Amino acid sequence: MKIDILTLFPEMFEVLDTSIIGRAKQNNILEFRVINIRDFSTDKHKHVDDYPYGGGNGMVIKPDVVYNAYEYVVKELTYKPTVIYLTPKGTTLTNKVAKQIANLEHVILLCGHYEGIDQRVLDEIVDMEISIGDYVLTGGELPALVLIDTVSRFVKGVLKEGSADNETFENGLLEYPQYTRPEIFHGVKVPDVLISGNHQEIDKWKNEQSIKLTQEKRIDLLNNH
Ligand code: ADE
Repeated sequence: MKIDILTLFPEMFEVLDTSIIGRAKQNNILEFRVINIRDFSTDKHKHVDDYPYGGGNGMVIKPDVVYNAYEYVVKELTYKPTVIYLTPKGTTLTNKVAKQIANLEHVILLCGHYEGIDQRVLDEIVDMEISIGDYVLTGGELPALVLIDTVSRFVKGVLKEGSADNETFENGLLEYPQYTRPEIFHGVKVPDVLISGNHQEIDKWKNEQSIKLTQEKRIDLLNNH
């Protein structure tokens, strides 16, 4: 999967070199390009923003600068990649949305800052608006990283086969609790069933624990499923 990122803060994406995403990048399963929107400013001071028409707080990112950056990415392509704008006004990111995005070959993530981006360029290039939750961040970079992380889990070859299957939310439930050695920690023993060797009983226990946890912590998930 190809992921191009349009941002004013390219250094924030250095974390993509670490951990599971870093390995997928090295194996060419994920290909990233981080493009600095400021490089596409046409004025000599490299301004990227200006005062909002109609007044109001903050600055607005100029449409021409964003368009130039977008054009740089698409100019040699014979297709239009899906442009995703990170904004608190977008559709809330869920596992289901992440899976849909993971099926796309090529996406461009557009990160805003300040009071936003001029609406005209958004209307022209954006295909999908995504929010990572009902709170406002100072920019779209952290949301883009969150999106990349969760989408990557559903890209074939990033995780071990099946690792994304039994997780929290996959079946509309929270995941059961996990244990590892030692068998007794601070006087508390691992549940007997998990060391019984009876796989039928173990699966039953996991399912019961999932339902119990979901009832206790996220009853809304059971009601909406
Ligand atoms: N930009 C600022 N806040 C955001 C949010 N919650 N989701 C996506 N992009 C954002």
